[in-house]
Parts: sequence; structure tokens; C-alpha cells
Amino acid sequence: MISAPVITIDGPSGSGKGTVAGILAKSLGWNLLDSGALYRLLAFAAVNHGVALDNEALLAKLAAHLDVQFIGATDGKSARIILEGDEVTHAIRSEGVAAGASKVAALPAVRDALLQRQRAFQESPGLVADGRDMGTVVFPEAPLKVFLTASAEERARRRYLQLKAKGDDVSLSGLLDEIRARDERDTQRAIAPLKPAADAIQLDSTELSIDQVLERIMSEIALRDIAG
Ligand code: DC
Repeated sequence: MISAPVITIDGPSGSGKGTVAGILAKSLGWNLLDSGALYRLLAFAAVNHGVALDNEALLAKLAAHLDVQFIGATDGKSARIILEGDEVTHAIRSEGVAAGASKVAALPAVRDALLQRQRAFQESPGLVADGRDMGTVVFPEAPLKVFLTASAEERARRRYLQLKAKGDDVSLSGLLDEIRARDERDTQRAIAPLKPAADAIQLDSTELSIDQVLERIMSEIALRDIAG
């Protein structure tokens, strides 16, 4: 059996990869894996169940049994997410949950427990997978791997505008500090650190619009003839 093709999009938070992955999946009519949501869901569930964010064995057990439904399969981050019967679509997007996700994501047993769950998203006609280690660990055979970056300042600015638009009271310098701390944890961890796969195409979105990033990716897809 020929397995469904995968396009991986890895990079730090705020690089635009979530938006790009969502639009790409929609326009190709492919499935979408927002792997960061799985780590966020685990951190959220752990807090609900009173499990400490450094209790590796219990967290791995929780990860293996996480009762999650993604409703609206190919519509990216706007898909509704149901955890243990409750809608948590917006709740898991907070900065607090992001910080917890970054902590549980550093634990090897947790990453292991989530591996098969992530690979199960590789279904026909194809998959766009967004995360940190999609190209290096989860889908090393993917025919197109993209590593999307942007400067920390630009990523903080984007996040600031997003949160302000939602009416949240946030400080730009606080967000920049948080982004730097998360980058440090995500790139320096011993297991599956954030880094480009050797065969990834690297794009810096600091000065590029989402449309320009999409254009570059679409031309790579055409070049490789992977979307039929
Ligand atoms: O992409 P995001 O902000 O939703 O990810 C939340 C956290 O999960 C982030 O700090 C890093 C971690 N993560 C990871 O380690 N591996 C992935 N494939 C996706 C996310």
C-alpha cells in the first residue's frame, strides 16, 4: 500500500506555521495535524487531574489515554477540540497552557506516548503536519519539509497584536521574554529539539506575508509533484 503524502511544517511559535498549515491543508483538501494542540491538551488535562507537570510516568499514561476529538478535520486551528467531553478549543490557546505544554513536551515518555497518535493522522489523500519535530522525528519520510522561522521580536509583535485584538491586557516585553524562554526550552531539550531536518526548506517569514510563504510552498509542491 502506498502511504498518503505528508508535508511537514516545523518552526517556533509565532512563525506563522499554524496559519500556513491550516490554509495549505484546506486548499489541498488534506488532513491537518496540529501537534502542538496535543501537547497543550495534555498540559491542560494534567492540571485538571492534579497531575504535576514533571510527573513523567503519570503524564505518559495520561497522554496514551487522552480522550480527545477534533471536530472539523481539515480546517486547522478553527477546528473544535473536545477534551473529555468539554470544549477546550479556546482554553488551550492561553499563554499559561502554552508554558505547560512546553514543559510536558520535554519529557521523553510523553513524546513517545504521543508518537503513534500523531502518525495515525497520515491518511488519504494527504496530511499537512505542523509542529517542532514533524520532519525530524514523526514523519522523517515526508516528501516536503518546511522549516519556518521569524525573529523573536517579530513573533512577539504578532502575538501581541493577536492578544490585543482579543481584548487581553498584555505587555510586548513580557511576551518577548516568554517567547525567548520557550524557544530556549524547545531548542535545547535533549529529545526531539526544535531544529530543521537536514532536507528541510528553510523560510524566514520576518519580512514575508502569509501569502508569500504559501506561494513558496506551493511552488515546492508543484516542483516535487506531490499533490497529484
Ligand atoms: O505550536 P504550539 O505553540 O501549539 O506548541 C505548544 C508547545 O508544544 C511548544 O512549546 C512546543 C511543544 N511542541 C513540541 O514539543 N512538539 C511538537 N511537535 C509540537 C509542539
